[in-house]
Amino acid sequence: MAWTYQDARAAARRRLPHMLFEYIDSGAFDERTLAANPAGWGKLRLMQRVMRDMSKLDLTADMAGGTASIPVALGPVGFAGMYARRGEVQAARAAASEGVPFCLSAVSVCDYEEVCRKSGTAPWFQLYMIRDRAYMGDLIDRVLAVGARTMVFTVDMPLPGIRHRDGRSGLYDTGPGGFVRQAWQGIGRPGWLWDVYLRGRPHGFGNFAAAMPGRTGLGDYWRWIRENFDCSTNWGDLDWVRSRWPGKILIKGVLCTEDAVAAFDAGADGVVVSNHGGRQLDSVAASSEVLPRVVDAVGGRGPVFVDGGLRSGLDILKALAAGADGCLLGRAWAFALAAGGESNVAAMLQALKAELRVAMTLTGCRVLRDADRSLLDIGKPFPAT
Ligand SMILES: Cc1cc2nc3c(=O)[nH]c(=O)nc-3n(C[C@H](O)[C@H](O)[C@H](O)COP(=O)(O)O)c2cc1C
Repeated sequence: MAWTYQDARAAARRRLPHMLFEYIDSGAFDERTLAANPAGWGKLRLMQRVMRDMSKLDLTADMAGGTASIPVALGPVGFAGMYARRGEVQAARAAASEGVPFCLSAVSVCDYEEVCRKSGTAPWFQLYMIRDRAYMGDLIDRVLAVGARTMVFTVDMPLPGIRHRDGRSGLYDTGPGGFVRQAWQGIGRPGWLWDVYLRGRPHGFGNFAAAMPGRTGLGDYWRWIRENFDCSTNWGDLDWVRSRWPGKILIKGVLCTEDAVAAFDAGADGVVVSNHGGRQLDSVAASSEVLPRVVDAVGGRGPVFVDGGLRSGLDILKALAAGADGCLLGRAWAFALAAGGESNVAAMLQALKAELRVAMTLTGCRVLRDADRSLLDIGKPFPAT
């Protein structure tokens, strides 16, 4: 049976303890943006074209300097090592086998070195600005030393978002009651308990383990994140990052034209139009609404990637038609990983490729990197946002 987002989500729900499923699935506040993201792609209509000899298609794309088999990267998703055994390694392997980039989240369970070693790849590395600049500098040196070349610098999380479902599920409850609740949820998922919780150890703090010596619990990690994410971050700080990072820097979390232009002015190589999958500021626009404006404002100074609510190959074609150079996936691969590990993430990528083929064939798009707004059945100009 073909891979679909909804099937993977349902399977992940059956497999994961409730609080982990909720952590992946939820959004901030009333989850308006969370819902708007997929709905935004859903609203766009493709323009069907026929009788055009579509026997040869080119699905490849330039993703921040490397050629990918499809214009997709597995975007940064924290704590993937809790969704599957050494989850970040499994996802990196699946991405490599299907020829797309994998981006390791700063807040991963497996650190960058382990993922490199066990996947034989040098993934993109995502970083937040953290208060302890000395630690951040060392971390940058560490990942560069083992081959990192592309940094995704996430700027829409100066502080963690407020997600009510996480509060309800008991994720942040560090008291004895919380422990009992979490243990109970784990016992209710014996497959996960055995495969991930017991055989997937250690569940350390990955890239930040050395910053938290002697601390062991999830509560310690949340506390450290709250204390160390840097609210004072501004464009000037990008100079500091730039001076240490010789490779490409993509600024992730841009939602308006001014910030996109500012990112390039500050030395970024590309931007990711993103509202963090509706997990940070609720009631901001869906990525699909903002994307065309940002693309126009950037005017070809560098690639514009997009994420948020992308669930199928059709969505990916729509994103490219609306001007994106490539797409990042979040929940799609996180659920695929939780549901069936490396092989299921690979199956997801194969399904997206097959869907893209159908969409390209029936819109008359032979070369994906040439996709433009003529593929959308919108009349012109692009619908006002
Ligand atoms: C469970 C989860 C954890 C995430 N962790 C990170 C992270 O560590 N760093 C980051 O830049 N973005 C993170 N994101 C945001 C994703 O990179 C991406 O922007 C978002 O998931 C895209 O929306 P989608 O899930 O609808 O595809 C996370 C998203 C989810 C769902």
